[in-house]
Amino acid sequence: MIVKINLDRSVLMTAKDCIRERRSIRKFTDRPVDHALLSEIVETASYAPSWKHTQITRYIAVEGDLKDKIAAECTQAYPKNGEIIANAPLLIAVTYIKGRSGFERDGSFSTAKGASWQMYDAGVASQSFCLAAYEKGLGSVIMGIFDEAKAASLLNIPEERELVALIPVGYPDEAPSAPRRKPVEELLTFQS
Ligand SMILES: Cc1cc2nc3c(=O)[nH]c(=O)nc-3n(C[C@H](O)[C@H](O)[C@H](O)COP(=O)(O)O)c2cc1C
Repeated sequence: MIVKINLDRSVLMTAKDCIRERRSIRKFTDRPVDHALLSEIVETASYAPSWKHTQITRYIAVEGDLKDKIAAECTQAYPKNGEIIANAPLLIAVTYIKGRSGFERDGSFSTAKGASWQMYDAGVASQSFCLAAYEKGLGSVIMGIFDEAKAASLLNIPEERELVALIPVGYPDEAPSAPRRKPVEELLTFQS
């Protein structure tokens, strides 16, 4: 099978193209991800909105033996994720600083949703990261199934931070078609 992948998307891409055409990528070439390019992607993702502009999301870029250790030791619940991480040149660990998003200064919750806004912010940031990466020709997949305690320990995540998701990143070696989306009539309702 011949996989045609256009890596220079930034010239003509609209926001609509970027959102619609990004796919979860689970097969990567050996080409490494340049650190300056990764910095540029994180700078773009930093424009994601956040609770009271608290900007709690932090990205850890993991390569080499540590990445392979996470692939081997943190994916028993879903070994396919281990294969994907092992095959990717780079793994991003998405973390956030606890106790700010959704919290008042005295530590009480700002709303009835309690601590949930932290995950909300990390999700908004993660999608922004994946879209910014896609615009630069990189593939990624957000992963929620992994041994969080083990991965947090291997990554030395301190107590005041939460590990949210793992995102393998690299140049795509596949071009999957989009899984079917629900129709707008199901997604959108109007009220007055
Ligand atoms: C919160 C979250 C967790 C996910 N966890 C995994 C995962 O553990 N492994 C995986 O292969 N894909 C994972 N995915 C990717 C979804 O399967 C994927 O987004 C979905 O099938 C739609 O495909 P698309 O991203 O190509 O549009 C996750 C996506 C999200 C948003």
